[in-house]
Amino acid sequence: MKILFVCTGNICRSPMAEGILKDKLRQRNLTDEVDSAGFENFHVGDPPDERATRTARNHSIDITGHRARLFSSEDFKRFDKIYVMDSWHYHNSMNIAGSEQDEAKVDYIMNVLYPGRNMVVQDPWYNGIQSFEEVYHQLDAACQKIANMMETASMQKTPEKNC
Ligand code: 4NP
Repeated sequence: MKILFVCTGNICRSPMAEGILKDKLRQRNLTDEVDSAGFENFHVGDPPDERATRTARNHSIDITGHRARLFSSEDFKRFDKIYVMDSWHYHNSMNIAGSEQDEAKVDYIMNVLYPGRNMVVQDPWYNGIQSFEEVYHQLDAACQKIANMMETASMQKTPEKNC
């Protein structure tokens, strides 16, 4: 399973989600690919926002190695699931999708916890560190569910892991 998280600048929400899920997969000895990307080019090549880095670090997650990049149509070939943070990302992704198969890969990340509600993860960029902490907890809860689903899928593929 290959997972991509998408937000606007790829310096706050999606890099935090990437770091959180990678950490949870590492704890489960899973090696699935996880990445993140954004729709605006303002920060391409930049490390995550300092508030995102600090918030993640406070939860023992290091996202300093990440560099922002743009989402591209190639990502539909590379990834099995594309989790977006809000409706702007959702509609942008759907516009770039080249097939119904591509469209089926896109979902709001919070739908893993609250199916069909299309709840958004608010942009913390214009707010203070407390907003980053709130976003972190939303993403952590969603990534916990994603990691559990991936662990279940991996056990179904390799039943000997169950023993
Ligand atoms: P992100 O937050 O989408 O969570 O990375 C943002 C970062 C930068 C900007 C907007 C949102 N910006 O306009 O520069």
